[in-house]
Amino acid sequence: MDRTYSYYKKAFKEQEKPFAYIDLEFFDYNVKDVLKRAKDKKVRIASKSIRSVSLMKRILDYSPQYQGIMCFTSPEAVWLSELGFDDLLVAYPTFQNEHIKAVAHEVIKGKKIYLMTDKPEHLQQINEIGKQLKVKIPICMDLDMSSNFPGLYFGVHRSSLNSFFKVKKFLKSLSLYPYVELKGVMGYEAQIAGVGNNVYGKKIKNSVINMLQKTSIIEIVARRKLVVNLVMEFVDSLDFVNGGGTGSIEMTRDESQITEIAVGSAFYNPTLFDNYNQFKHFPAAGYAIEIVRKPKPNVYTCLGGGYVASGSMGPDKLPMLYLPKGCKFFPNEMAGEVQTPIYYKGKESLNIGDPVFLRHSKAGELCERFNYLLLLQDGEIVDKVLTYRGDGKCFL
Ligand SMILES: Cc1ncc(COP(=O)(O)O)c(C=O)c1O
Repeated sequence: MDRTYSYYKKAFKEQEKPFAYIDLEFFDYNVKDVLKRAKDKKVRIASKSIRSVSLMKRILDYSPQYQGIMCFTSPEAVWLSELGFDDLLVAYPTFQNEHIKAVAHEVIKGKKIYLMTDKPEHLQQINEIGKQLKVKIPICMDLDMSSNFPGLYFGVHRSSLNSFFKVKKFLKSLSLYPYVELKGVMGYEAQIAGVGNNVYGKKIKNSVINMLQKTSIIEIVARRKLVVNLVMEFVDSLDFVNGGGTGSIEMTRDESQITEIAVGSAFYNPTLFDNYNQFKHFPAAGYAIEIVRKPKPNVYTCLGGGYVASGSMGPDKLPMLYLPKGCKFFPNEMAGEVQTPIYYKGKESLNIGDPVFLRHSKAGELCERFNYLLLLQDGEIVDKVLTYRGDGKCFL
């Protein structure tokens, strides 16, 4: 499936610009493909990479293999719980008392919300609120999945639980906190799930990354197995063992300890996820900016467009000029806050008022720029759904 400039231009002819869209044929294909990739494992939706209630519902409705949401903050989890979602894992620690209290109130109502922990400070804080409100609060233990190669730290700096000894100490300490209940284990192998190993034009770097990933995987599998076995000596049962992300599904699914994989970016498939060997999803999300000037022949200046992604600095965090094919940024200006000049010498005739289509480098961050997503199917706009921002929500 390929899309042309004229296809999108015609479909969005009447739309006020700028706008963001989801190409539903691509999106639905990605939803289906993720399940094929995950084989028999459940898939938890990483909400940070969707940031639209309506599209998360669409994914959950597709199959019972999609189960639960991985939230990025606890106020978000509480909001989603109030909207009727359940089985909400907050993937990063919550430390503010008011936030923990709000979660505890949902737990009292019978909802499943899990708070992330890896330090005694987290346990203490959650336990205190549980004690005040007389409720056991479910928690998840975050296991560090980084590889510490000689002279190279391959992974992310998140959990402190980076050794068998530390995990054991953490598990032993749980008996001090009767109002927390360990119900889940998560280990996010960011260096596999979020690092592209097939970046265009980077042959040498790709082969180094591939080699590091292969070595890291061996270590990860052994570590996760050891830890889950150890955890089972301390608890009667776990609700889940979560691992992975879009880029690691093929690896994570084969681990017997894993019960579910967290996936988000695969559905919109932003440009950072074009760079993997193991899979190819379709570019479902994009945005359009309007040509408002033509200062010189072949130069088209558009309004807005500079939606740069978070994380380490680099050209891969810039938006990509998508359609018409052959558009280029000016290196001195790139995608700007208010003006984005583009060089184009191709077969499309571009005029003031015409759209130029771009793709974001990350998935959910695009939704922080738009209140709505236009949903496109068979060349027609079939719906307009709210983003979190459109819902008046700004969690991070
Ligand atoms: C804890 C955790 N799990 C899974 C993911 C995978 O998300 P995605 O599929 O959007 O890459 C992330 C992304 O940062 C994460 O932080």
